[in-house]
Amino acid sequence: MKSQKKVVVFTGAGMSADSGVSTFRDADGLWENHRIEDVCTPEAWARNPQGVLDFYNARRAQLDEVEPNAGHRAVAGLETHFANVVVVTQNVDDLHERAGSSEIIHLHGELRKARSERNPQVIVPAQGPTHMGDTGPDGAQLRPHIVFFGEAVPEYERALEAVRDADLFLVIGTSLAVYPAAGLLYQIRPDVPVWLVDPNPARVTVPNPLTVIAEGAAKGVPPLVVELIRRETEG
Ligand code: APR
Repeated sequence: MKSQKKVVVFTGAGMSADSGVSTFRDADGLWENHRIEDVCTPEAWARNPQGVLDFYNARRAQLDEVEPNAGHRAVAGLETHFANVVVVTQNVDDLHERAGSSEIIHLHGELRKARSERNPQVIVPAQGPTHMGDTGPDGAQLRPHIVFFGEAVPEYERALEAVRDADLFLVIGTSLAVYPAAGLLYQIRPDVPVWLVDPNPARVTVPNPLTVIAEGAAKGVPPLVVELIRRETEG
């Protein structure tokens, strides 16, 4: 019998670092090698759409070279003992999916999708590169299905509902630098225990019982998941 406790796993780029995917704000991170204003704003898309397509085509191509790490697999493994596990991720890679997690909310979009630049509801799969001239079913140019800085976060309400319902909350590999995503931490019911896995953990001031595991995801998440399952099965 699976535990009915609701588990939310909130992840950032650090979750995928052990798979070889660059984070944003670590040394040599993506935002050290690219200006956000050039690749991740609506103005960048209007000014130089090809440059934006090139940036995301390169990140999408990298997905074919990387695999989920032990941390992704441990997160997916929670579902063997917990009936309700929701992954709320800031990541746009597909590594949680490929590790086997079944409920994933992508707050900042997905590399494996593209969308009409005219209508954000028109979303299509994007396995390979997207080019200027590629159009969606509505005839408009396709753009990355990525939430650019300054754009709405359509999945936020759905994530908020999951966070407010959580009985256990894991935070893995995020600098908590970007809102509204980072603000989700302050929406957890105050009695809910929180675990933070990050080799360089952000300072978190929440009323919740907080356990910080200063390890990388691949090393720190598997034993945490074993412990959470043990507590549930042994009571
Ligand atoms: N395991 C776990 N965490 C790690 C690892 C690792 N191996 N390596 C680094 N980290 C941690 C860093 O210490 C840092 O806290 O991952 C975090 C990465 O932070 P960011 O690069 O800021 O990534 P993230 O928090 O996901 O950024 C949030 O910003 O640019 C936007 O949309 C983008 O979704 C992204 C958002």
